[in-house]
Amino acid sequence: MKYLITTAIDYTNGDPHIGHAYEKILADVLARYNRTFRGPTFFLTGVDQHGQKVQQAAEKEGLQPMEFAGRLSQKFLNLWRKLGIQYDGWAATTDPRHKRAVQKVLQSLHDKGELYKQKYSGYYSVRQEQFLTDKERDASGEFGPEWGEVIFFEEENWYFKLAKHKDWLKRFVENRTDFVVPAFRRTELLNAIDRISGDLSVSRPKERLSWGIEFPFDPDFVTYVWFDALLNYVTFSGYLSDEGSNLPDFSELWPPGVQVIGKDILVPAHGIYWPIMLHAMGFADDQMPRLLVHGWWNAAGSKMSKSTGNVIDPDLLADRYGVDALRYYLMRDMVIGQDADFYEDRLRLRYNTDLANDLGNLVNRTISMSQRYRSGKLSLSAVNDADLTAIRDLANSVIDRYHKSFGEFQVHAALEATWELVTRANGLVEQKAPWKLAKDPAQSERLDGLLYTLAETVRVLALLVSPVVPAASEKILDQLQASDLRRLEWGALQDGHQLGAPSPIFPRAE
Ligand code: MSP
Repeated sequence: MKYLITTAIDYTNGDPHIGHAYEKILADVLARYNRTFRGPTFFLTGVDQHGQKVQQAAEKEGLQPMEFAGRLSQKFLNLWRKLGIQYDGWAATTDPRHKRAVQKVLQSLHDKGELYKQKYSGYYSVRQEQFLTDKERDASGEFGPEWGEVIFFEEENWYFKLAKHKDWLKRFVENRTDFVVPAFRRTELLNAIDRISGDLSVSRPKERLSWGIEFPFDPDFVTYVWFDALLNYVTFSGYLSDEGSNLPDFSELWPPGVQVIGKDILVPAHGIYWPIMLHAMGFADDQMPRLLVHGWWNAAGSKMSKSTGNVIDPDLLADRYGVDALRYYLMRDMVIGQDADFYEDRLRLRYNTDLANDLGNLVNRTISMSQRYRSGKLSLSAVNDADLTAIRDLANSVIDRYHKSFGEFQVHAALEATWELVTRANGLVEQKAPWKLAKDPAQSERLDGLLYTLAETVRVLALLVSPVVPAASEKILDQLQASDLRRLEWGALQDGHQLGAPSPIFPRAE
């Protein structure tokens, strides 16, 4: 089995922003952690290319939807390459392999009697591409601003029997206490399940929306974009794939270890439609996914939007401060599940303080001093020094807490624990003043012990930070000449180990 990690697939109706980047970095960090310390991992991400939003955005530019979606997809691909997003599978919903599998799913649900055709007249939210019922009205009886423009019309469509699975879903979410992480989101979902009333329209008549996957048994209709998009998780994992499709072996990947999504798409899409779709398709309860729901990045306290012009561009920030700085800030300053405010000043501060000053300095002075006093050659020392033992003990405790935090997807907590070790090691340098020890031949073994302890601490730290700042981690390991020593346990550096030349890893940002 491989540990499958997925993200939401991004709409190709506009440029990627910091929210998209955060989610992909978070999933990449979890995937890198898993690959390095746990075992085989498969990271699936991609783009959501169909639907009304994309069709409308294309029309505005005077382009065919395919050309428009293709251009936008390329922007996402370029950004992910730049930000070091190491994915294994790319889910683009216009991929013919996906389309065929979606059609197979529709056909099979039709055969099972899970779909029916019906005329509907009522309200429709253009923005959410969704029909509305009285349940969606707010306290004053109106459809709130979240629905955007609401129109009234009559239309025949294919419906998926959602409501009949309501009791199953309720029981499932009650029993599977870790279906949704963090826990408070599960309460929100349980409340939403109680409100399920009608079925889900899963088609759109072609005369209104042509940009989608055609119904296999009724060619006047295309598939509703959410139904198409949610299926990406199984189709690109190899579900119902054709011979020679070059997709993974489904039985090796499913169920996913974790599906990373933002809070806005838990209810109803991922918390209600998705498990019910899988259930109706015949997936057993133990084949259901687990959802990790993150919060939103806001621009200095307010919602990002094109109209206010406060959309934060990750591409620009990566150019300005470097990829590692951006990845580190986004992981360090958001508590999983909560919202966070983006401040460029804070990114700069985090970079200059945590990375350049604390970690960068520790690495640099450790390697420089070893070079200056011992030509870079480490020696184990027989001298018993309680301060050094304390650092080793702290390293072991940090490693334990780091794994525990990652097990709970608390990346910020893993970093917090890691920086305890950075701070203590810097403190040790001040306390022991190696520049003084170096002047006294009687202290020679003490100096050896100190230099070894610092180098081994730096090696452990390079591994601990590797999922978040992979480029910096490689540079540190390279300077230690320890690229092949990737065991996250104290003591891999051997007596006589030769360190390389120091060079600054995080130049200060002004
Ligand atoms: N296409 C759908 C998802 C289909 S998944 C089967 C979609 N796309 S999106 O482009 O609007 O959003 C993609 C992801 O980015 C979602 O998980 C969403 O929550 C996340 N974010 C969008 N804006 C965000 C922030 N401002 N902050 C953090 N993440 C946010 O929804």
